[in-house]
Amino acid sequence: MPATIIMGGQWGDEGKGKLTDALAANVGMVVRANGGSNAGHTVQTDAGVFKLHLIPSGVLNPGCLCVIGAGVVVEPGTLLEEMDGLAARSVDISGVRVSERAHVVLPYHPQLDRLEESVREGDNIGTTLRGNGPAYADKVARHGIRIADLLRPEILRRKLAIELDSKNRQLELLYGEASIEYSTLYHQLLGWGERLRPYVVSTEVLVQDTLAQGEEILIECAQGALLDVDYGSYPYVTSSSPTAAGACQGAGVAPMQVRRVLAVYKAYSTRVGSGPMPSELSDDTGERIRVRGREYGTTTGRPRRTGWFDGVAARHTSRLNGVSEVALTLLDVLDTFEQVRICSGYSLGDRVLRHVPALSEDSEAANAQWLDSPGWLRDTSQLLTYEDLPPEAKAYVSTLESFLAAPIRYVGVGPAREQLIDRFTPQRAAGSTAPVIR
Ligand code: GDP
Ligand code: IMO
Ligand code: MG
Repeated sequence: MPATIIMGGQWGDEGKGKLTDALAANVGMVVRANGGSNAGHTVQTDAGVFKLHLIPSGVLNPGCLCVIGAGVVVEPGTLLEEMDGLAARSVDISGVRVSERAHVVLPYHPQLDRLEESVREGDNIGTTLRGNGPAYADKVARHGIRIADLLRPEILRRKLAIELDSKNRQLELLYGEASIEYSTLYHQLLGWGERLRPYVVSTEVLVQDTLAQGEEILIECAQGALLDVDYGSYPYVTSSSPTAAGACQGAGVAPMQVRRVLAVYKAYSTRVGSGPMPSELSDDTGERIRVRGREYGTTTGRPRRTGWFDGVAARHTSRLNGVSEVALTLLDVLDTFEQVRICSGYSLGDRVLRHVPALSEDSEAANAQWLDSPGWLRDTSQLLTYEDLPPEAKAYVSTLESFLAAPIRYVGVGPAREQLIDRFTPQRAAGSTAPVIR
């Protein structure tokens, strides 16, 4: 059972890119399972900072095949730009593979994303405006155009004519917008298809052949489980399933082929966009976290909302995803706080909830109950082993484990590749500060 899922346990931006990069050193393939260019995954190496949107975060490991699975929605222009940007920085992109089944984000999808947000007025989702929602809506409504279509001019001609006609009527009649010209779009799509052709394959066949040879693979999710369309704070969610189950579906891997579910959690909470966040801090403490954690969106640059760790929400996602191991990132951000808090319950009227309610209105109305512990007031950013952590930090980690009901194996103490402690494999290669991450 050689597949490892790397998923976010909160509202995204937990550091999935960094963990994927670290673990990709030991595998030959990383498969991205869901989402689109709404994702922004950061990897920091000696060569600088890389912000990846569609290409799996294994790409900085030479020889790693980087597969964009069927569950991803692909904006071809963004993908090609990302590939060109990496190539310009001397990153080898020959291992990129794109599923012919992946759906295409067309120019009308970001346009509809913006228009749909504008008519929600005060009740908007706060999407990344990348067209993800409208693209996934077309996919399940069976109106999607897929990567395979871009490679077949006659098939594309027929499908695009039907879809664009209906979208143009929507744009003109519902929103009073100008229509999109067919011929220009058709030729743009064919051009993108030609450029992508060398990379397009049946990724599910490639993935299954690799697994059949007994090789290890990683599945990288985008977003976080609290943004899941079924179990997140609907409607303030993304339009895919950033869960362990969604990872299998999007990557073309069967549940029984998964060996590990590694969920990444920050040592506190952040959220971008609207929706309930019971442990949110709208005060100086929240601002201190934002500044220390550089909490500004990787994709949109928006300031992220910040708060203490939400134990209720973390328990919800850990249980639903069968999390077997946890990576706790950005612990160093809390180094300067005299006290750290965990939200241990939601008090709602005369009840205390230990689970996440179905209605966002109830989460919104809930007040956090707090569990306080002393901070460690020491710089952890240079520490190399778990044993080196201050006792207060270790106590905080073990309290978090009681909410997660899973071992916290990795601890992030900074954005760089080497600032990652593996509690269970503490040895580092001779003469190197880089951890041997398994
Ligand atoms: P992703 O979307 O889950 O891949 O996460 P993002 O890249 O959007 O956001 C995580 C941010 O935290 C990035 O700026 C990372 O460079 C940074 N980061 C990751 N791990 C750590 C850590 O342990 N400590 C600190 N200080 N920064 C980290
Ligand atoms: P990574 O992979 C954080 C949020 C948006 C918005 C909601 C819906 O970097 O963790 P969408 O554009 O998906 O329709 O927006 O989801 N969102 C993310 N928040 N990290 C992400 O990705 C996100 N992708 C979407 O801010 O609240
Ligand atoms: Mg991100």
